[in-house]
Amino acid sequence: MTRNVPAWVRPLLVALTTVVTASCTGASKAPQTVLVAGATGQTGQQIVKHLKTAGYRVRALVRDADKAKEQLGPEVDYAVGDVKEAAAVSAAMAGVTAVISSIGARSRDGPDRPEVIDYQGVRNLVDAAKAARVRQFVLVSSRGVTQPDHPLNRMFGDVLIWKLRGEDYLRGSGLPYTVVRSSGLLNEPGGTGDLVFEQGDRRLTSVLSIPRDDVALVCVQALTYPEARFRTFEVHRTDGPPVTDWKAKFAGLKPDPKP
Ligand SMILES: NC(=O)c1ccc[n+]([C@@H]2O[C@H](COP(=O)([O-])OP(=O)(O)OC[C@H]3O[C@@H](n4cnc5c(N)ncnc54)[C@H](OP(=O)(O)O)[C@@H]3O)[C@@H](O)[C@H]2O)c1
Repeated sequence: MTRNVPAWVRPLLVALTTVVTASCTGASKAPQTVLVAGATGQTGQQIVKHLKTAGYRVRALVRDADKAKEQLGPEVDYAVGDVKEAAAVSAAMAGVTAVISSIGARSRDGPDRPEVIDYQGVRNLVDAAKAARVRQFVLVSSRGVTQPDHPLNRMFGDVLIWKLRGEDYLRGSGLPYTVVRSSGLLNEPGGTGDLVFEQGDRRLTSVLSIPRDDVALVCVQALTYPEARFRTFEVHRTDGPPVTDWKAKFAGLKPDPKP
């Protein structure tokens, strides 16, 4: 069919066919861009590491670009902004396929208290992700969020109560999501044990723990498997071989009831 086409047009036709085929089949090899909110945090840095290893392009939403570049290196695309500023959060979403948020309040009172970061900050991220038609939103939350009498609420500005409000906002947004409720976080290497996924938030946070590295890997794996979508679960480490079959792990979870 291309025999009568001038030679100089043929490469253009081949390129056009490739683009059209890729966009129709979804087979484009272009890496997806994932926005990490909280990328400079202890878990956020591990999330960036696992995303890079898995071949994603990473955009980091950070408050201090110089500090972030020292921590995360040059291969990351930096969007400077505070989760309190809706306009900055919206600007950071351009071209993003998925969001992973591991933001968390670092003070119990003041302008960056849990209500403002763990609830309103998450709201800003969810609203912007929805407007940008992001395909999935993974939120790092905490075991214990459904227990209003949990001591952490008294000690740290109702942090778990505000985290649950943030989760609820995401679940009600219509965006495909995964909520990963972490147990006590450890700065230890990941992949050193089995991971237990649970639902229902029935156990106390203090006795169960997990390396930040493992939480980060769970978040990144959740981007790959549709079985992880519309799920909320708690996770902790236990003795045993590290997870290899992530699909089966996510498939063992029940979808959340519709909000
Ligand atoms: N500690 C635990 O045992 C435990 C247990 C369960 C769940 N969690 C939750 O797990 C998540 C990760 O914990 P982590 O200890 O790894 O966190 P972290 O080291 O305290 O990091 C928090 C991140 O949130 C960012 N952040 C805070 N306020 C912000 C704002 N206004 N705008 C933009 N970014 C902001 C921080 O940025 P800067 O670097 O600019 O400050 C930092 O990157 C948190 O949600 C935490 O509450 C913790």
